[in-house]
Amino acid sequence: MIVTYDCHTARKYKNNKKTSYVENIFNEFPIFEEIVVKQMKVYKNIPALIEKTGAIKRKGLKIGFIPTMGALHKGHLSLINCSQIDNPVTVVSIFVNPTQFNNPVDLQKYPRELDNDIALLDTILNQNDLVFTPDEKTIYPKPDNRIFNFGTLDKTMEGKHRPGHFNGVAQAVSRLFSIIKPDKAYFGAKDFQQVAIIKNLIKQLNLPVEIISCPIIRESDGLALSSRNKLLSTEQRKAAAEISSVLFQALEYSTGHSVIETKNMVIRTVNSNPLLNVEYFEIVDPETFLPVSKWDEIPECRGCIAVIVGKVRLIDNIKLSVR
Ligand code: PAJ
Repeated sequence: MIVTYDCHTARKYKNNKKTSYVENIFNEFPIFEEIVVKQMKVYKNIPALIEKTGAIKRKGLKIGFIPTMGALHKGHLSLINCSQIDNPVTVVSIFVNPTQFNNPVDLQKYPRELDNDIALLDTILNQNDLVFTPDEKTIYPKPDNRIFNFGTLDKTMEGKHRPGHFNGVAQAVSRLFSIIKPDKAYFGAKDFQQVAIIKNLIKQLNLPVEIISCPIIRESDGLALSSRNKLLSTEQRKAAAEISSVLFQALEYSTGHSVIETKNMVIRTVNSNPLLNVEYFEIVDPETFLPVSKWDEIPECRGCIAVIVGKVRLIDNIKLSVR
């Protein structure tokens, strides 16, 4: 059974209800397997989705895939754009993956805006494109106990400060890959360490997926777009612009200063704003993700930062190639 999604009704519905309109249709009418939006099609369950992607594959069409956790913004849309250039069919998933949150409050506060997301996707996806909005039981019918070994890749930065985070990312992404079987998958360089983890994951699992890293999309004041930016107050949002600004400063500063001096400058400058608190700033080898101590150890380093702004945690990074 197919039902047509109506953005106007969804908007009216949103004013009164806690759940989203899309969820409500799927919950109240489990017989509906597919929701047809003006452009793309939305799936909640695996069998109907697999039937569709199977038919696409049998026609010899390539599938580009963008996994997301929703609360979509222009950063996500840029990945979709890359996929649309490369592939006749694009699949976007929206799934707030509980296993990658090491902090329950962060999971609870994570913005969920399914109806807005669907309306936004409808403006850029085409008739061939698909959206997958599974719930937790669909992705994890039983607890996923797999423990991945990423060597040195998850021993610093996000891996060190968010224990279990990348293992959870790998669980969700590997499940999504096995359901969607994309030819290419698109990830943002904003989550720089995540891209390396995913590349390593597909090697470990021997999956025939090409991983494409896409550039960081920023606001006009330089702040990297993030779903978490929505959780900032006006004051915090203004202060957060300092994060990218100091990274750009670091690029220049690093040409005349050592690694440790550059690190200290970044941490000192960000922390001088009372609303910002640096969790880490590391200058790492983008192959191993281990910290470098001298610029000439490798041809190109990456400066990666995590900053706490109130209760929100923001990350950003920049290429630092001094030689
Ligand atoms: P999420 O934070 O929703 O991000 C989905 C994708 O969008 C990621 O590849 C992320 O790097 C990219 N992205 C976010 N902000 C961006 C920006 N400003 N510029 C460019 N790309 C940006 O990352 C996740 O979800 C999850 O970990 C996921 C991979 C979906 C697994 O659950």
